[in-house]
Amino acid sequence: MKDLILRRLRNEAPGFVSGEALSEALGVSRTAVWKYMNELKDEGYVIESTSKKGYRFVSAPDILTPGEISYQLETEVIGKNIYSFDVIDSTNNYAKKIAMEGCEDGSVVVAETQTSGKGRLGRAWNAAKKAGIWMSVVLRPSIPPEDVQVITIAASVAVVSALKRTTGISAGIKWPNDIVVEGKKVCGILTEMNSEMEQVNFLVLGIGINVNQETEDFPEDLRNTAISLKGAANENKIPVEMFKRSDIIRSILFELEQSYKKINSRNTGGIIDEWRKYSVTLGKEVKVSAKSFEYKGIAQDITEDGKLVVKCDDGTVREIMSGEISVRGILGYV
Ligand code: BTN
Repeated sequence: MKDLILRRLRNEAPGFVSGEALSEALGVSRTAVWKYMNELKDEGYVIESTSKKGYRFVSAPDILTPGEISYQLETEVIGKNIYSFDVIDSTNNYAKKIAMEGCEDGSVVVAETQTSGKGRLGRAWNAAKKAGIWMSVVLRPSIPPEDVQVITIAASVAVVSALKRTTGISAGIKWPNDIVVEGKKVCGILTEMNSEMEQVNFLVLGIGINVNQETEDFPEDLRNTAISLKGAANENKIPVEMFKRSDIIRSILFELEQSYKKINSRNTGGIIDEWRKYSVTLGKEVKVSAKSFEYKGIAQDITEDGKLVVKCDDGTVREIMSGEISVRGILGYV
């Protein structure tokens, strides 16, 4: 009911809607309308009310409720079901749980904070309360397991183009899927897969974006390598009080769905080209490190299935499928 009232107010804004019209349209008493208004105001919505004209929507708070995210969400599949939490251990864990229970393709899980946020390669992920986007998307693509890397690539591209569209910030992609601005990490993506030999059952695409943190909000050991969108804007002398996280989420879900449709119809070429365009890795000197070896070279290309092609200092050309690389000048590698 509250969502219906909010929708109606938004549709009429900047005009007023009378309490009478709302109570008639929704079949509830005027006192009930007044109670819902107070609940909305408590959530942070600014609603002007006058005894003569009724109610007028002024602004929405920076909250991640399903209603706020789905308002004007232009997708068909991704984000049709949104599960939102104040606190959760990890949105990826919850997404895997509901995926096992059979949730729909495109279900989204978001949280204001995570108590055990997970990063790639077994690392922890810092998820400051209400300052970032901590979300996971369940996908059920019709592709074989060996092709899933393209989904992570599509997610990186979706994040970069959504960030540009909603915040004006130009970010780059460090292979495989770190999103960087000013040489520091603004977003990380963790993909987890459940599959049979031939077919993916589901994928969980976990996306963590630093949005409104101040430098001091990051743990000390991250301050040289992590940045928020707000921090990046301020470094570029663009004074920003805060970015609205639901606007960014909507835009990411929209971009992701466009690529998801292409992937399901086996048409991925454009996605890789976009990745190349945003890459801060290609043409750069890179160091490839694994437990038992380390080598340096120049990152030359990315293959159609997402492997990084490196021309090594010894003249050999190698394709890297997973792991970590360092790119000179980025994330503290000098
Ligand atoms: C990385 O190491 O770069 C990947 C970080 C992924 C973090 C996100 S936050 C939302 C989702 N839930 C998690 O526990 N991790 C991912």
